[in-house]
Amino acid sequence: MRIFLTGATGYVGSAVLDALVRGAHEVTALVRDPEKAERVSLRGVQPVIGDLSAPKSYAQAAETCDAIIHAAYESSKRGPQVDRQAIDALLGAAIRHAAKGHPVSFVYTSGVWVLGNTSGKAAEDAPVRPTPLVAWRPDHERLVLDAGRGRTLRTAIVRPGIVYGGGRGIISDLLKNAANGLVRVIGDGRNHWACVYDRDLADLYLRVATNPDGSGVYHATDEADERVADIVGAVARQAKMEPDVRHVPIEEARAKMGPYADALALNQIVRGQRARALGWTPTLHSVAGNVARLLEEFRAKREAA
Ligand SMILES: NC(=O)c1ccc[n+]([C@@H]2O[C@H](COP(=O)([O-])OP(=O)(O)OC[C@H]3O[C@@H](n4cnc5c(N)ncnc54)[C@H](OP(=O)(O)O)[C@@H]3O)[C@@H](O)[C@H]2O)c1
Repeated sequence: MRIFLTGATGYVGSAVLDALVRGAHEVTALVRDPEKAERVSLRGVQPVIGDLSAPKSYAQAAETCDAIIHAAYESSKRGPQVDRQAIDALLGAAIRHAAKGHPVSFVYTSGVWVLGNTSGKAAEDAPVRPTPLVAWRPDHERLVLDAGRGRTLRTAIVRPGIVYGGGRGIISDLLKNAANGLVRVIGDGRNHWACVYDRDLADLYLRVATNPDGSGVYHATDEADERVADIVGAVARQAKMEPDVRHVPIEEARAKMGPYADALALNQIVRGQRARALGWTPTLHSVAGNVARLLEEFRAKREAA
């Protein structure tokens, strides 16, 4: 399959890229500079140098592909606006290609934080109550889902939990902070985080993009329902010297980190029935139970960087 990927150098997107390459797909990837273009070329991927905010730099390349996976996100004040621009451009490209009689799919990356604090177990049909950090996201999800209501295009949303594995992300930061002797937990840590292993997540993208029935919302979590305190406890026990664990009141965390603090303080129990119905079965089922392995992966990635 010819697949266009944004965010191929990012945490989520690089895992997706690995899965696509393993699956022998013909990948074109949007990257921001020649050095990154060189890096993805070595993987047998066709690079397109451009920027999400400059649709002309990539729309034509996207238009030749059977599937488009949007896993990039610009972490800046204009992030939501750039994301909207990219969705418009990528959907436009997909619709033009589909109009020529090709079956085309578009997969958008959202996240479980759009669910807010869950009451009970939140499956893909649960109402969205986004935490303020991602208040803009449900509109983008709707745009993508609406574009898939006709017959021309298949559209899907993947909502990953907090990603673990490799050398990046929130769990890697915990490992790093524990090694440095101090881990901060917002509140008492009794809240649950919904998490997913990066390679398992990538497998779900592959299934959604390539399955002719893959459309609508998919939750990607390992369903371990782990409390933050248990994750932190396991990470702390694995460190060479047991780190201090400091509980920070939400108000103090908010003053320092803004709405990101509220996202980390969410209590989420998330289910992915629709993802499982595609045959998706995560291989890792918990962060706390895999800390030794995650530490190995973290060190290996850091050494390779
Ligand atoms: N990480 C998680 O735990 C997690 C969980 C749930 C949902 N998500 C969602 O997944 C998406 C990706 O997150 P991530 O953690 O993979 O982020 P990331 O590691 O920061 O990667 C972002 C990617 O987007 C690219 N990018 C940023 N701005 C761009 C621009 N203006 N034009 C072109 N490319 C641009 C980056 O390229 P460069 O390499 O050039 O910077 C990079 O490849 C986000 O929507 C995020 O909300 C992530």
